Amino acid sequence: MRTTIETSRLILRPFETGDVEAAFTWFGNPNVMRFTPTGPDTSIEQTKTRLAKYQEHQTAHGFSKWIILDRRLGRAIGDSGLLMLQEYRWIDLGFRLAQPYWGKGLATEVASVWVRAAFDDFHIDRLTAIVHPENLASIRVLEKLGFLTERRDTIMGMNSIVFSLSAKDGETDSSFRRRMSLDWTQGDLHEGLRCFHSGAFFEAHEHWESVWLAAHEPERMFLQGLIQVAAAFHHFQRGNCAGTISLLRSALGRLDRYPAAFTGIAVTPLCTVIRLWLEALETIPQASPPPVPQLQLVAIES
Ligand SMILES: CC(C)(COP(=O)(O)OP(=O)(O)OC[C@H]1O[C@@H](n2cnc3c(N)ncnc32)[C@H](O)[C@@H]1OP(=O)(O)O)[C@@H](O)C(=O)NCCC(=O)NCCS
Repeated sequence: MRTTIETSRLILRPFETGDVEAAFTWFGNPNVMRFTPTGPDTSIEQTKTRLAKYQEHQTAHGFSKWIILDRRLGRAIGDSGLLMLQEYRWIDLGFRLAQPYWGKGLATEVASVWVRAAFDDFHIDRLTAIVHPENLASIRVLEKLGFLTERRDTIMGMNSIVFSLSAKDGETDSSFRRRMSLDWTQGDLHEGLRCFHSGAFFEAHEHWESVWLAAHEPERMFLQGLIQVAAAFHHFQRGNCAGTISLLRSALGRLDRYPAAFTGIAVTPLCTVIRLWLEALETIPQASPPPVPQLQLVAIES
């Protein structure tokens, strides 16, 4: 049974009793809880009761709402996970971040690993998410994950849009994983990889762009990040340092949203090298950057 999930920027684990105070900073915040049917917790005791319920749910089902920790600082920054809503007979995906962490792609990062865990580890067939129609950031996160609108409804007293995402029954591979699989062993993806590793960055960019044009999320944004990396090194070859920095920054902003490995590409080492490049190029006087990263292929578990 899984008890932690890691992404390139985050660690998720079940709530523990000692998390109450940290958790109250977001459960007690009216802005964060604006679109949660219960509204904000008005006392730390209320948050304590909430966490106890999540812990009970964890014991009963093996999953629940888990705490999100910033991997680098170890700081608690939000909660996300799956809850069985008995009354509606569905499993609900939720995600919530303390306000300083909004707008960095973290909800997408955390929600996408929960979707994969739901389908691949917990063998859940269908996920639901309820969102207030004015919660545009949350709607966008769900759209990026491939959730579709089912209907409008009043759920737990809240005017809601009901979203859902299904994995196909009776298949060893979930539909989510199939959607996420890009085949790097043939065609333009493979050619692009070959060009990238031989220093032909412009050509790599061209090959990947032809796949990107027809791709859907979440692969689309991932490819866009890789294309920007290739374009950045092309600029570097031509002596355009400002262009390199700007493209690497933008690529990092996209790639950082993905799990440690995505569609068979190791994301964490790539992001690490991009950071080292940025550090070197942005230092005055400029330091020499590390070697251009190799894109490591990792096996996709079946
Ligand atoms: C909803 C929430 C989790 C989003 O977290 P986040 O880390 O900022 O989300 P991400 O950065 O991964 O993605 C947000 C997306 O919404 C977009 N977005 C943000 N505000 C938006 C707005 N007002 N209108 C349209 N799109 C918006 C962002 O541009 C981004 O899309 P992009 O990647 O295509 O640019 C966060 O705002 C939060 O915790 N809110 C309070 C709790 C909550 O409402 N949880 C959801 C309950 S269903």
